[in-house]
Amino acid sequence: MSQHSQAKRVTAPDIAARKGAAPIVSLTAYHAHTARIIDPYVDFLLVGDSLGMVMHGYETTLPVPLDLMIMHGAAVVRGSARALVVVDMPFGSYEESPALAFRNAVRVIKETGCGAIKLEGGRRLAETIAYLTARGIPVMAHIGLTPQSVNVMGGFKTQGRRRSEWQAIEDDAAAVTEAGAFAVVLEGMAELLAARITKQIAIPTIGIGASASCDGQILVLEDMLGLNPSVPKFVKKFAAIGEAIEDAVRSYADDVRSRAFPGPDHVYGMREEAPATRGDGVTKKPKITRS
Ligand code: KIV
Repeated sequence: MSQHSQAKRVTAPDIAARKGAAPIVSLTAYHAHTARIIDPYVDFLLVGDSLGMVMHGYETTLPVPLDLMIMHGAAVVRGSARALVVVDMPFGSYEESPALAFRNAVRVIKETGCGAIKLEGGRRLAETIAYLTARGIPVMAHIGLTPQSVNVMGGFKTQGRRRSEWQAIEDDAAAVTEAGAFAVVLEGMAELLAARITKQIAIPTIGIGASASCDGQILVLEDMLGLNPSVPKFVKKFAAIGEAIEDAVRSYADDVRSRAFPGPDHVYGMREEAPATRGDGVTKKPKITRS
């Protein structure tokens, strides 16, 4: 039995049960090694389709294929032991019909070993959320600023800054709750509206740019680590990893150019080998080995 399988993972119902309790902590993770570092500190890890922009240099999340989400999702599951792993369904993999969403979500669950999927949309996805949850797939919903709808929204625009927009977003929150989502991400949303929705619905709200009134928070790891030079207003940089990487790489380049690296600590010397005797009493020639 692997070390990982001995630890009990957080489940989607565990997250749902946290409504109104201590804040739920989450971050995105795209690879095994960051998942391993983050895992002890978070309740869930999201393999967000933001990986298309953060890791693969796309301008939006729209080009991200399902296979890429599965590859990163499996890596994050392998790298973590405790946190619930939620994998994003990418654009085009679930909107067409509940049956298509089910087929693709089954692939994600089977091929990554994750505990839940996330999809973007409110009322228009309610039927699909109900279909998936009725068939054993825990769904996290995502409303407000939904990056996969960037072309319809005309950009990555904060939602609910006008009261006239509130009813539609509140209806989205009610619809995904009714459909059986275990939690809902509120992204890029006016603080007052996020607070109102958090009070209105029975499932936890996970905020990103939606204020501390939500039941939990999520950030893109690379943004909060300071790896991304331009981040939205709602991101607090908890480290300056981008600068640390640049400093380290500059020192490495200097050391290589001056031949200070590799130094004596980083090279392999020779091993003395005792002469071996063959069964017939003849001494074998010592063999030089490299290690
Ligand atoms: O893709 C992602 O990283 C997300 C978070 C921003 C919630 O959906």
